[in-house]
Amino acid sequence: MYVTKIRQQRRLAGVLNYADARRRAWKVLPRLLFDYIDGGADDELTMRDNVERFGELRLRPRTGEWVPVPELSTEVLGTALSMPVLTAPCGGMRLVHPDGDLAIARAAARAGVAPVVPSGGGYSLEEVAASAEGPRWFQLYKFSNRAGMEGLVERARDAGYHALVMTIDTNIAGNRERDFRNGFGYDLRINVRNALRLGPQMARRPGWAFRFWRDGMPFELPNTAPFGSDGRAMSLTEMARSGAESFSPTWHDVALVRKVWNGALVVKGVLAGDDARQAVDLGADAVVVSNHGGRQLDGVPAAIDALPEVVAAVGGAAEILLDGGVRRGGDVVKALALGAKAVLLGRPIVWGLAVAGEAGAVHMLELLRAQIIRTMCLMGCPSVTRLGAEWLWERPRG
Ligand code: FNR
Repeated sequence: MYVTKIRQQRRLAGVLNYADARRRAWKVLPRLLFDYIDGGADDELTMRDNVERFGELRLRPRTGEWVPVPELSTEVLGTALSMPVLTAPCGGMRLVHPDGDLAIARAAARAGVAPVVPSGGGYSLEEVAASAEGPRWFQLYKFSNRAGMEGLVERARDAGYHALVMTIDTNIAGNRERDFRNGFGYDLRINVRNALRLGPQMARRPGWAFRFWRDGMPFELPNTAPFGSDGRAMSLTEMARSGAESFSPTWHDVALVRKVWNGALVVKGVLAGDDARQAVDLGADAVVVSNHGGRQLDGVPAAIDALPEVVAAVGGAAEILLDGGVRRGGDVVKALALGAKAVLLGRPIVWGLAVAGEAGAVHMLELLRAQIIRTMCLMGCPSVTRLGAEWLWERPRG
């Protein structure tokens, strides 16, 4: 235990930002897993835009304002957050690290933020709930088995989840060519062919391979038990394959879930203003402006570029969150200045998890907090709740 801690601290010592964590994750993970996390759809244009468009926004500080300790805490849908951040739902995390979703939930609790626990987690939503104190939200995929889906909603309620986050941008799976090339998600099983094909990758990452083996090589996704054949949990492979008929969520499904869920309802994956409005008209309490981290439809705008249209369309009738491309504290500040209440953090948390499990995820959240504080101090802005368009330099027209 003590040795593991020292090892983790050593691995994290030089991780000063997301790029350091990504580089270290590359050294820890077999290529097919690194690419699963790092990759996007088609030419990855949207994935790159998500990050780059944040970089093109400029802050507008108030010089001469001394802000010793900026206030970062906020509240979203009744969930108190120590900073305006949640962890994004990411399936397959038990493959990245044996503690997977448990580690992320614990890290979120330690940092005083909320995890959005994925349907496609390697632990059941009950196991995640039992593993960490603190508020938690549950991400719901549409599953074609309606009774099963309602059962999942009920389980989330019984396990004390505060909000349901319904992902709406998964009509079918995105075209992730890195995954096809690596054979990830299609024939990822332990058999002779894969052992020969993937053996060399695994041999270069013995630490990961050992942990994965000791964890029993878990491919199953326990939350999907009501949807697999014979009531068995689905594997990531089956889940990806069953995409077309089981995942295509429609407004009809949002309305159905609204009927059976009394808690806060969030629709994740809207980009257009009228879609956001539609979600709110159906009873959503919040929307997440998101393109799934560029993993679904390539060629759509960066999340930060889509945000103003959604803010204008919703007009205060619901909370607005954003994910995609948030890498530094300055990005969080920019998203809030453009009208988001909080952001969800995806890949940086996963890289942290890969490098050092729970400690790595905590490290990424605390790095982000330090960066938000520094940005707010330098801007002379006393509280995240004060951020608005006046804190951004207007983009040059043209
Ligand atoms: C995801 N994302 C995702 N979203 C979702 O609603 N359900 C899911 O199961 C997953 N799975 C998943 C796995 C991995 C490895 C990644 C990287 C992402 C999308 C995620 O919630 C979020 O929208 C993006 O990750 C945000 O973009 P950044 O922060 O990664 O740039």
